Amino acid sequence: MKLLLVFLMVHTIFIPCFSFDLLGKDHPLTLDYYKSTCPTVFDVIKKEMECIVKEDPRNAAILIRLHFHDCFVQGCDGSVLLDETESLKGEKKASPNINSLKGYKIVDRIKNIIESECPGVVSCADLLTISARDATILVGGPYWDVPVGRKDSKSASYALATTNLPTPEEALISIIAKFYAQGLSVEDMVALIGAHTIGMAQCRNFRSRIYGDFQVTSALNPISETYLSSLKKMCPSNSGEGDTNVTAIDNVTPNLFDNSIYHTLLRGEGLLNSDQAMYTSMFGIQTRRIVSKYAEDPLAFFEQFSKSMVKMGNILNSESFADGEVRRNCRFVNT
Ligand code: HEM
Repeated sequence: MKLLLVFLMVHTIFIPCFSFDLLGKDHPLTLDYYKSTCPTVFDVIKKEMECIVKEDPRNAAILIRLHFHDCFVQGCDGSVLLDETESLKGEKKASPNINSLKGYKIVDRIKNIIESECPGVVSCADLLTISARDATILVGGPYWDVPVGRKDSKSASYALATTNLPTPEEALISIIAKFYAQGLSVEDMVALIGAHTIGMAQCRNFRSRIYGDFQVTSALNPISETYLSSLKKMCPSNSGEGDTNVTAIDNVTPNLFDNSIYHTLLRGEGLLNSDQAMYTSMFGIQTRRIVSKYAEDPLAFFEQFSKSMVKMGNILNSESFADGEVRRNCRFVNT
C-alpha cells in the first residue's frame, strides 16, 4: 500500500496537475507579470533549484520554511531576508528565526544569477515564492502555478516576527488564531504544516514533547518506544545539553514530500507538540478530521497544499505595493 502511494505521488511530480485561479480581477499578482521583462525567470530559478536540492535535499525544506516566515510578517515582501543595519532592525534575530532559519545564502546565489539575466526586475519576494514551489516539486510534492508581481519591502519587523510566527509550544487555539489573522483557515493550516513531511528540527524544539506526552499519545504502538529512546539519546532531558542536535521531523520518509507526516500524527509519534496537537488536542475536533483525511488521501493533501501555498503567497504587504522596490541585493534596501 505504502509503495503504491509513493508511486502515485512520485508520478505527480511531472504532471502539472494543480493549477488554480484564486486571484480576483483586481489582484495585483499575475502569472505572466515577467513575460516581457524577464521571460526566463521561472526556468532560471528551476535550473538553479535543481542543483541546490541535489546538493542537499534539506535545502528544499529550508526554502519552503523561509517563504512561510517571510509571508507571516508584513506579508510576502522579502522582509525576512533583510540584514540588520544601524537603521534597520531585521527579523533574522527574532526568536522563531535566530539560530534556526536558514537559506539566506541560497537566496543570494539565485538572486545573483537573476540579476545578471534581468537586472533590477525580479523581486526577492517573488524569487522566494517561486523557489519554494520548485523546492516542493523537487522532493516529490505537487506543482502549482505561482502568481508573481510582489514588491520588496523597505522595512522589516522584529516585533511581528516574534509575535506572528507560531511556536511548537503554543496552544492549538492560539496557532489557529495566528493563521486566521493571516486570512488562512484551519484547513489551510493543517495542509501547510504538511510541509513538515520534510526537513529537520532541533532538540530544543522537541525536548518538552519527548519528555512530555509522547509516550501517552503513542501508547498503542510498541515500535514507537524504540523511536522515542533514539530521540532521547540524541536529545538529553537537561536544557542546554544537545540543544542544537537535529533530527528529521518525519522520521519515515524525511526527504520525500508525501503525506507520511499525517500517519506519524495518527500513530501519536509527531515530533513537535504543535503538530501532534492537531490530531490529539481536545480542542482539535476539526483538525483531527482533516489530519485523518490527508493521511487517507494523499492527493487531497497535495491539492489543498497547493491551494494553501498560493493563498499564503498572496498575503501581501499593501505598503510595499505603493512604496516597495525590487532590491538589487536581497539583504539590503536599495540606496
Ligand atoms: C503550526 C505552525 C508551525 C510551527 C509551530 C512550526 C514550527 C517549526 C519548528 C519548531 C521547526 C524546527 C526548527 C528548528 O528546530 O530549527 C520547523 C521546521 C520546519 N517548518 Fe515549521 N512550523 C509551523 C508551520 C509551518 C508551515 C506553515 C510551513 C510551510 C508551509 C513550515 C515548514 C517547515 C519546514 C519545511 C521545516 C524544516 C526546516 C529545516 O529543515 O530547516 N512550517 N517548523
